Amino acid sequence: MGKLVLWITRKLSDATLERAARDYDVIVNEADGLHTADEIVAMSSKVDAILPCHSEIFDADVAARLDPRVKIIANHSVGVDHCDLAALAARGIVVTNTPDVLSDATADIAVLLMLGASRRAVEGDRLVRSGEWDFWSPSFMVGKQMSGARLGIIGMGRVGQVMAHRARGFDMDVHYYNRRRLPEALEQGATYHDSVESLLAVSDFLSLHCPATPETTGMMNAERFALLPDGAVFVNTARGALVDEDALLAALESGKLMAAGLDCFVTEPGGNPAFATHENIFMLPHIGSATVKTRDAMGFRALDNLDAFFAGETPKDAL
Ligand code: DGY
Repeated sequence: MGKLVLWITRKLSDATLERAARDYDVIVNEADGLHTADEIVAMSSKVDAILPCHSEIFDADVAARLDPRVKIIANHSVGVDHCDLAALAARGIVVTNTPDVLSDATADIAVLLMLGASRRAVEGDRLVRSGEWDFWSPSFMVGKQMSGARLGIIGMGRVGQVMAHRARGFDMDVHYYNRRRLPEALEQGATYHDSVESLLAVSDFLSLHCPATPETTGMMNAERFALLPDGAVFVNTARGALVDEDALLAALESGKLMAAGLDCFVTEPGGNPAFATHENIFMLPHIGSATVKTRDAMGFRALDNLDAFFAGETPKDAL
């Protein structure tokens, strides 16, 4: 029997592609472009499995039209908001993700965003780079200090816990909201809040680490931004869908928020053009997990899930 056919929808790391080609008959998207729903559906009749990223949308419409040949969607992402899990389950298609392996890299980027936003990196970089830096004073480019400040974390899963660990290294006072309180050993001294509202009231810095679901979509709205302490710094490395971007902009323009650090946007790729003129928004193009080490680990985790499935086992990360 020939190898099973695997469609890899984007250009994954060399190590991942090498291993995939060893074990599967691989179709790789060398051009690395995005796929329309129709393209995904058309490809599905030619393959036994799909290894997509969060950039490929498997909504109810696509799920209904996928060819029955496809048995598993082994995502190269921890987030699965691009997949309609119920619709895919109804088609008998197994879906997996890649938790754990990107927690360190994503928390690192959240720290970068917190520092970049609170210490005015966009403005400072622009001044030096443009040659417009002609002044210095103790009152020049004064920012907000992380040490001693309270960090609110929404979503104390794997990434949230690493974020809390990083924040302790900055001597921050960690608070969190999670659907369930963590055992004391995992809390590591962090203060639990049983509502988002209670957490917001003490969050000098706020970092989102929860998935985008129907319940969390738009959760950071005008009412909730208003609950933050004046001059708070807002960071999002989770999903753009969690944020009402007009409300975020209004909170920044009014001075309610000192700054924001964003790696995720409602519209991706592209971001929000209205943010571009605001130097107190430090932005990155959804690269939280973009390190060689993490990309290899994500690819290998997705392949581990595929291998387990085709060996007749339940994949470790079956959802
Ligand atoms: C994830 O894994 O969900 C990251 O956002 C990258 O896709």
